[in-house]
Amino acid sequence: MTRKILVTSALPYANGSIHLGHMVEHIQTDIWVRFQKLRGHTCHYCCADDAHGTPVMLAAEKQGIAPEDMIARVREEHLADFTGFHIGYDNYYSTHSPENKQFSEQIYRALKANGKIESRVIEQLFDPEKQMFLPDRFVKGECPKCRAQDQYGDNCEACGATYTPAELINPYSAVSGAKPELRESEHFFFKLGECADYLREWTAGSSTLANGRVQAHLQPEALNKMKEWLGENGDNTLSDWDISRDAPYFGFEIPDAPGKYFYVWLDAPVGYMASFQNLCERIGLNFDDYFRADSDAEMYHFIGKDILYFHALFWPAMLKFSGHRAPTAVFAHGFLTVDGAKMSKSRGTFITAKSYLEQGLNPEWMRYYIAAKLNSKIEDIDLNLNDFIGRVNSDLVGKYVNIAARAAGFVAKRFDGRLRDVSDSPLIKQLFEQSEQIAADYENREYAKAMRDIMTLADAVNEYTDANKPWELAKQPEQAARLHEVCSELINAFKILSVYLSPVLPKVAQQAAAFLNVDALTWQDSTRTLPENHIINPYKHLMHRIEEKQVNGLIEANKAAAPEQNEAQSSAYEPVAAQCSFDDFLKVDMRVAKVLNCEAVEGSSKLLKFSLDFGFEQRTIFSGIAASYPNPAELNGKTVIAVANFAPRKMAKFGVSEGMILSAAGADGKLRLLEAQAGAQAGDKVG
Ligand code: MSP
Ligand code: ZN
Repeated sequence: MTRKILVTSALPYANGSIHLGHMVEHIQTDIWVRFQKLRGHTCHYCCADDAHGTPVMLAAEKQGIAPEDMIARVREEHLADFTGFHIGYDNYYSTHSPENKQFSEQIYRALKANGKIESRVIEQLFDPEKQMFLPDRFVKGECPKCRAQDQYGDNCEACGATYTPAELINPYSAVSGAKPELRESEHFFFKLGECADYLREWTAGSSTLANGRVQAHLQPEALNKMKEWLGENGDNTLSDWDISRDAPYFGFEIPDAPGKYFYVWLDAPVGYMASFQNLCERIGLNFDDYFRADSDAEMYHFIGKDILYFHALFWPAMLKFSGHRAPTAVFAHGFLTVDGAKMSKSRGTFITAKSYLEQGLNPEWMRYYIAAKLNSKIEDIDLNLNDFIGRVNSDLVGKYVNIAARAAGFVAKRFDGRLRDVSDSPLIKQLFEQSEQIAADYENREYAKAMRDIMTLADAVNEYTDANKPWELAKQPEQAARLHEVCSELINAFKILSVYLSPVLPKVAQQAAAFLNVDALTWQDSTRTLPENHIINPYKHLMHRIEEKQVNGLIEANKAAAPEQNEAQSSAYEPVAAQCSFDDFLKVDMRVAKVLNCEAVEGSSKLLKFSLDFGFEQRTIFSGIAASYPNPAELNGKTVIAVANFAPRKMAKFGVSEGMILSAAGADGKLRLLEAQAGAQAGDKVG
């Protein structure tokens, strides 16, 4: 039976570039959608840019353009990036659309009619210079707990404390620098607290699909998180949700409430509906079939773990209490890390989709690597760059593509491109047998397992090739029939593997179909062979190997694009280290010290030996700056800064060093000692 399925990926914000983190999500979704389509189901994949909100408004202002112009341009860029990675949306729209305005208003009115909207006056920080209320992220100040400077209004990055913006010490507006004041304003709230019983039931529940399959609404880890938020039974901990913002705001004005706008997270998920409605109009689908309360169509949202709250609580409640169906399931994934760490601009691992494509890397390499890492759990996944090169070269080029390359020449030269019927081949049967298992793995988003199973089959095919040695058979005229059979088996095996990989490698699958001289592959092609005398086309190379220098080039390109290095000669600067707290800083005790004597160290070209007066005592410190000071005696009498509370360190055979002298490392490779100004006394504390 044919399923009717609507699938979405989270809508990327219109004020940033698409990076490989986003790509994980869209690749995961696209693989699933392509799989469903290959199986013959009716499946629509909708996405859009998330165009509203204060950050978008301010970003456009900074660029000196209207937000409408900025979001139109960014949408083009996003779509080009995604298309470059072969993400096959049926519609990629914008939340700033007439459909979205209409649905947002309609849902709001329905919620209001159901008694789920309430207005309340709240106090919020206001920027008197910019004349706007400030979202938490746009208020900065000192952390009330650890006193770290320049912390955001919602949490401290130095000590991890969470608080309200009003608790910040010496708060300032990140927009204008002005001191914000508390002001009252009327806000609209969605009474989520009243939806807690429904949400407790929905989050723990499942849908029975038209084909009998039972699909849990949430993954087990997600359900556990929800239980934390919802309370187990009746002990309701859900607070109502503030869905309005005051002008100036880039978004939709709330009906009958001039100067009040829908908060971006209200109209963002509604953007799924709007994008789908726009598709329905274009291709003549019935929208209500998919969204009415008793719809038998399936609806899935692929999202990252950070936006679970919105998708597993707010969104189902909005749908339910406005008279629509709820999602069939929400599928959350973890975050992408690169070489084991959070993506970092200064390290060049904040890799944009655009840079990847511009460096000439093949998008299907990344699709395969991500697929080989993904499962149905909410685990972070790591892009290990060496592993990426190794895995792609060995699996895709070495194992899969190689099968066609090894057999195609013989078929063309010796048999006019014709194949034998190999439907009775045990090797082919072995490949057929995995079809339903691999399908189940795709269905369950166990892509890593599917890739492993497919590569195990590719191994079996390659072992079969090595055991039968077509290149030897080709030298023996009496073995022509056997050669024909073996090569026909290999070409058919290649076809089946191409079907199995086609959700992940759509372009290669298309080229494989052209080479095999067949229509686009469907899942059914994984359990049937090509007929006797079928003629294949000449083989063109399908994929080349990744070279390490391409990956190095990618990292360099992203380092070069990092914002702190944008200025002309600034690439010479060391990246700024990870933030440390004031408490961390205070642990290092730095003192002014006077150089009593400085001399070269025999047997070391690097070290200079200092005798230092710290006021309270004299110490010996070895410092690795000999190359910068060929004449050590010139340092006698200088007033330097040194760390006084390092544990004493043995310097090979030269002696013990009792601290560290501070120097600045120049881009020219020279080290220069820091000197204290006249009047500073040995032993004075630095900080
Ligand atoms: N605009 C909202 C989503 C609205 S959906 C109605 C948003 N946008 S986002 O651009 O910040 O993120 C879009 C998606 O990308 C989210 O699902 C988010 O989890 C995902 N990712 C962002 N960085 C990521 C990684 N480093 N790794 C994996 N996914 C990541 O949130
Ligand atoms: Zn703090």
